Amino acid sequence: MRMLPRIDPTQTIAWKQLTQHAERLKTERIESLFDSTARRARQFSARVGDIHFDYSKNLLDEEARAALFDLVDHCQLSQAIASMRAGEAINDTEQRAVLHTALRIPKHEVPTDVAARERHENIHQVLGRMQDFSERLRSGQWKGYTGKSMTDVVNIGIGGSDLGPLMACEALSPYAGPIRLHFVSNIDGAHLSRTLGRLNPETTFFLVASKTFTTQETMTNAHSARKWLLEAAHDQAHVALHFAALSTQSDLVEAFGIPESQMFAFWDWVGGRFSLWSAIGLSVCIAVGFNRFMEMLQGAYAIDQHFYHAPPSENVPVLMALLGIWNTNFLGCATEAVLPYDQCLSRFPAYLQQAVMESNGKYLNRSGAPISYATSPVVWGEPGTNGQHAFYQLIHQGTQVVPCDFILPARSQYPLGDHHPKLVSHCFAQSQALMRGKPTDVALGELIDAGMAPDRAHSLAPYRTFPGNRPSNTIIFPILDPYHLGALVALYEHKIFVQGVIWNIFSFDQWGVELGKQLAGHILKDLTSGVASDQQDPSTAELLRIYSQFQVNSDSR
Ligand code: F6P
Repeated sequence: MRMLPRIDPTQTIAWKQLTQHAERLKTERIESLFDSTARRARQFSARVGDIHFDYSKNLLDEEARAALFDLVDHCQLSQAIASMRAGEAINDTEQRAVLHTALRIPKHEVPTDVAARERHENIHQVLGRMQDFSERLRSGQWKGYTGKSMTDVVNIGIGGSDLGPLMACEALSPYAGPIRLHFVSNIDGAHLSRTLGRLNPETTFFLVASKTFTTQETMTNAHSARKWLLEAAHDQAHVALHFAALSTQSDLVEAFGIPESQMFAFWDWVGGRFSLWSAIGLSVCIAVGFNRFMEMLQGAYAIDQHFYHAPPSENVPVLMALLGIWNTNFLGCATEAVLPYDQCLSRFPAYLQQAVMESNGKYLNRSGAPISYATSPVVWGEPGTNGQHAFYQLIHQGTQVVPCDFILPARSQYPLGDHHPKLVSHCFAQSQALMRGKPTDVALGELIDAGMAPDRAHSLAPYRTFPGNRPSNTIIFPILDPYHLGALVALYEHKIFVQGVIWNIFSFDQWGVELGKQLAGHILKDLTSGVASDQQDPSTAELLRIYSQFQVNSDSR
């Protein structure tokens, strides 16, 4: 069996060359690179279908780019892709295959390999059930315990069992159908209480979305939701009329009281943060219709094919990954901003935070040794133009350089007067401003022209100066429909994969989330008993003491 390559990227010739290129380019201006390369805007951009990826506003020239392509070879990306596609256990520490891409292979593309064919049949069997069930809910055929049709569906899940479908339902809101979708993730009772406070148990359906069906937050919320239903419905038998499960764990689902006929299965080779395409997408089917969900899968599938077959120089996810590595490892950027210029993508940055940081926030390499270079940057962002009035100050004039991904659908789903051209003007203006900046003499000239006294103008001009030379990519596509949403998500998924391969880390486990869960168990015991055990450190013991004091004197001021 092949293994993922275990190559220290810093020991490759390409890495050493890239270090030198970065040194050379540090004194350059991005803008001046347009003078040295004719048609740079075209040469430093790529297309997949009608998705245009412009990376010309990066501090990168042809030589450095060529070294990045060498890095791809030296780190054996194509072997890693082959291992993933062959279903090898590339999620080594959990001994699991990584096959979320199998979920979007169209029904007619039946694989020849026996195991893959069986998997394909199982996937499409579940998809068939998702179609049937979502249509029954949407058409009003599905009745609750008083014979009424459902009006609201609550997806109870967290992490990958929440962020993906929530983001997609929000992104595809122009296609929303008759059923209102709600998402409850936080164990904070406020989340469930506030949601249920607006709902009627007779017409509310719950999807318990959990790969493991053991996640504390989800199971606590699911039990409270069941209690809420039974307070009105009284009979346990009615639970089956109002609950379905999306999970890999049939025995636990049954123990909860959800019959097998209402369990939508997926498999351990689907990572939580890559599970949007599986039964976890049932809420999306209910919200926008099964056919639109399938269009989303088609968009992702188109990107998969591009990722497998396009050479690095034309391969958009590979380019996205390499630019990230260039900015992180060679130009020293510690964070990356994702800035969608579309309100419907408001949850996209949060979705990406899990996908990227839970995957590549790792400090051990594939041989188990600590690594000496940076892995995942911190990913953050908000839709434009809102972010412009919040944190763009730092992006333009802060001491840290933040590479930005501007994401722009060219046509609005909500055309309204001149809103869209104004939105677009801001998107393009921001990347232009980041690249060009504004020199002090220009700032000074503007102040003098505006009639300011020279002394005052000289003292103010430095504050009105923008250093510029700050990198960004722009992803532009015709419209945010299901197909393009699927494609957009898949681009980032493959970006994550490529970076993990090059950084020589295991991208598909998430051991870093375990310690907090374990300690919360001990702390909950102490909270219940009211006594801090000796296991607690002095600071936590003191917090526990103050907490119980506040519990007793909750009304004292
Ligand atoms: O705690 C992290 C995590 O394991 C994520 O990886 C996952 O998406 C989330 O919890 C939810 O897990 P589950 O679907 O099993 O409830």
